[in-house]
Formats: sequence, structure tokens, C-alpha cells
Amino acid sequence: MAELKKIDEALHRYYSKTHKTVSSDLIEAILYSINCGGKRIRPMVLLEMLEGFGIGLTTNHYQVAAALEMIHTGSLIHDDLPAMDNDDYRRGRLTNHKKYDEAIAILAGDSLFLDPFGLIADADLPAEIRVRLISELSLASGTFGMVGGQMLDMQGEEKDLSLEELAQIHANKTGKLLAFPFKAAGILAEQSEEVLTELHQAGELVGLAFQVRDDILDVTATFEEIGKTPQKDLSAEKSTYPSLLGLEKSYQVLEDSLNQALAIFQKLEKNQGFDAGQITKLIERLRLNA
Ligand code: IPE
Ligand code: IPE
Ligand code: MG
Ligand code: MG
Ligand code: MG
Repeated sequence: MAELKKIDEALHRYYSKTHKTVSSDLIEAILYSINCGGKRIRPMVLLEMLEGFGIGLTTNHYQVAAALEMIHTGSLIHDDLPAMDNDDYRRGRLTNHKKYDEAIAILAGDSLFLDPFGLIADADLPAEIRVRLISELSLASGTFGMVGGQMLDMQGEEKDLSLEELAQIHANKTGKLLAFPFKAAGILAEQSEEVLTELHQAGELVGLAFQVRDDILDVTATFEEIGKTPQKDLSAEKSTYPSLLGLEKSYQVLEDSLNQALAIFQKLEKNQGFDAGQITKLIERLRLNA
């Protein structure tokens, strides 16, 4: 798909010629994880949403999409570290610290957390939009988003969490970074605050669905299907939707969340002239057969 290729081009452009190289070993380790072939769902959401708003995609949009994928990839490198989930495989290949070493994996993650903000700042977009995107991405990924959620996730191991506590973990460790591209598309398309709030809500629903789906796949999928070791949540004694609610109800939460998100896009289509076709297709792909 042309869009996937352009996301990868934007990622490589940043690490090839943007600035004078300090450590080619660091860039090698970063590109190892970037090139492992993730699904790129977050950047794809951004691009499909922009097209839904009738925006013609430019290099600048691909820069924002790449920035988001960089943060996500950094979060996976750190998530896999021995001190965290201690995983040997990611995206079908050895994890970054297994391929290189822990220090390199920590630094590759650090880079992937810090580089994106400059990448967005340097995009050829109106300054107000860039500042808003940087602010939203910082909130979604840092202390008040993904990192905060990872903290709760670590502290929740070997504990009996309530469904409310688990929902809180999922909303932060995964939900907010997945909600970002929905809202970011609205910011780039200069939508009203009211629409931005609806986009954010839809994004949070897809974000919850996505982590519930990941929890389900951890139980039901094979290594070949997910590219990472299955049944890891059980061995780490993590609270997950399947462990708390059972598989059947987890499938139901996944369905309900996706349906609620789709309803928001249908409303936007009716009232705002948003074309929901492409994003609907993408969201439909997240359904799992119970
Ligand atoms: C995995 O995310 C971690 C979660 C937040 C559930 P993805 O399933 O998007 O991973 P990649 O990018 O496709 O490898
Ligand atoms: C990942 O949650 C959340 C992140 C912020 C990376 P998981 O720990 O369940 O993700 P996987 O299963 O390792 O991809
Ligand atoms: Mg984890
Ligand atoms: Mg993990
Ligand atoms: Mg998981």
C-alpha cells in the first residue's frame, strides 16, 4: 500500500539525512525495530482520518504519522526489556535487547521518545497546529498517558485488580496513544473543539478495544500470528480482560467498544460531512471471531 511505504520513507528520511550522525550503531538499533514490520495501525488511523476530512496528504502529514509510530516503537522496545515484560520476540524477530543489548535498547527507546517532537516541530505546518500536536502527543505518551499506564501495569502484576482498575491501566498504557491520531487528524483538519472531543472519545474506545484484543490474542493466537510469545500475560500474572471477565465477555467488550466508536464516525458523517468509509474499514479489521 502506498501509504505504508510513505510512512516508512518518512521514518527513514529522519534517520538518514536530517542531521549529522552521532552514532551509526544507535541508528542501526533504532531502525532494527522500526523495520521489524509492525502493523502501523496508529499512523494509518491518522492518514485515513485526514482523508475522511477531505485533506490531501502531504509529506508533513507523513512526518506526524512517523512521529507517532516512533513513540509507539520506543514503547515496545522498553516494554520488552527484562525489567519490564521480559520478552524475547517482537514483530516476529528478536527483541531489541536480545539482538543488541539492554543498554542499546534503552537508548534506542530514549531516541524514539525524544526525536518525534522535533520531527513535528520541523514540519511545514501552521505553528499553532504544530504546538497543539506536540502538546497532545506529549500528554498521550508521557507521565499522563502511556508511561503512566505502564507504571500501573507493572504495579498491577500478581495483584487482583478490579475491572475499573484494569480499564484505567488499558486507557493509559494503550488507549491514549491510540486516541492521539483520531484527535490529531481533527486538529490538522482545523475542526471545532466539539468535534475534537468526539474524535478523542472515539479514539479512546478504539484504544480500549485494541488492548482488549491484544489481551485476547495473548490467550488465543500463535507465535506466527502475533510475532511475539503467546500466553505471556498468564505467566507474568497480569490482570487482563480474559483473566478478569473470561474470553466470551472479552470478545463482547471488544465488539461493543468498536461499535460505539463506529457510531461516532457515522454521526460525524451525517453532521460534519466526514467520509467514514476508510476508517470504518480499518476499524472493522480489528474485530475477532469469537
Ligand atoms: C502492541 O501494539 C502493543 C499494544 C499496545 C497492544 P501493536 O499491536 O500495534 O504492535 P505492532 O506495532 O503492530 O507491532
Ligand atoms: C503494551 O501492552 C503497552 C505498551 C505501552 C507497549 P502489552 O505489554 O500487553 O503489549 P505486548 O503484548 O507486549 O505487545
Ligand atoms: Mg506490557
Ligand atoms: Mg508486553
Ligand atoms: Mg499484550
